[in-house]
Amino acid sequence: MTEQDFILKSYDSNIENGSVKWSAPSNIALVKYWGKREHQIPENPSISFTLSDCKTITELSYTKKESHDFSFDIYFEGEKNQAFKPKIQTFFERIEAYVPFLRNYHFRIETSNTFPHSSGIASSASGMSAIALCLLDIERSLSEVGVSDDYFNRKASFLARLGSGSACRSIEGELVVWGENESIVDSSDLYGVKFQGEVHSNFKEYQDAILLVDKGEKKVSSTVGHKLMFGHPFAQERFSQAHDNLAKLKAILASGDLKAFVKIVESEALTLHAMMMTSMPYFILMKPNTLEIINKIWKYRTENDSNICFTLDAGANVHVLFPKAEKEQVYEFIKSELVAYCQNGHYICDSVGKGAKRL
Ligand code: DP6
Repeated sequence: MTEQDFILKSYDSNIENGSVKWSAPSNIALVKYWGKREHQIPENPSISFTLSDCKTITELSYTKKESHDFSFDIYFEGEKNQAFKPKIQTFFERIEAYVPFLRNYHFRIETSNTFPHSSGIASSASGMSAIALCLLDIERSLSEVGVSDDYFNRKASFLARLGSGSACRSIEGELVVWGENESIVDSSDLYGVKFQGEVHSNFKEYQDAILLVDKGEKKVSSTVGHKLMFGHPFAQERFSQAHDNLAKLKAILASGDLKAFVKIVESEALTLHAMMMTSMPYFILMKPNTLEIINKIWKYRTENDSNICFTLDAGANVHVLFPKAEKEQVYEFIKSELVAYCQNGHYICDSVGKGAKRL
């Protein structure tokens, strides 16, 4: 599909008002997106687990209006919020060509997260996908032609991508690929697609314990970090490595080879941070406790012949990934040895989920 396929020909303009509500999940990348071109086109493909419990819930109410400016109010966790306005304004400007009814309505956006806002967990993926889904739901009501589920999901992902790249992987579950890759049929730079390959039972209901090491605002935003991949000395190597790792992961997901999975996932996390440390300007987002946790995970894995591993986002928090079969033992380990490294002892228990839901 191309950008043009996401422009509907006609709308029924008689609808005066209405309201839609969606929950959209967060996701955790196994092969990381780091580096993008203009219009939110990724430099390399990525794949993520969709999470189950870390979600944004957004209700979008719309009322017909006359003036042709964008008009919207945002309420975050019940309170009117000004801080998110510029982000939504930019988002509306980027997506306007694909949802031209945006200027015809006033929107009331009521949004909340199931995870604490100050947890250091990025809410942009779940937040942008939730609002994209609400807009697509409105478009479906206004549309004079039928819209298939496939089209709906692809366009929601396409719009979400224009809000935040990783958000395009937060529409469906359980594994989503974004970015063209030879080994993935139908993969696209424009939207995420549900991973259709075989998935061994070892990877079903995979667990993700998110250890909150640093709940503060990120020192360097992802958007700035992505830009630093321009002219980065290792960029081309990194982009081609991501293609290889995705192809390898596809085979690993089918075979159920947990040891091979651990290697790819941890290498991807450390490569992401290595790119940050070797960009100009360089920066470090890991904290001392991030490294403490990583070393404890490695020790536990060796001593217990476990398949536990870690991955990292663009921040200090650690996502601890493990098969469901190890759930009890790993949570014992987290409670006895890792909680001490979490800010205020906080961590979030999550697992792989099935994607966004209409409420
Ligand atoms: C490190 O999607 O937050 O989490 O497109 O600028 O909004 P923007 O960036 P964003 O980047 C996330 C990068 C990452 C890796 C990943 O999720 O693949």
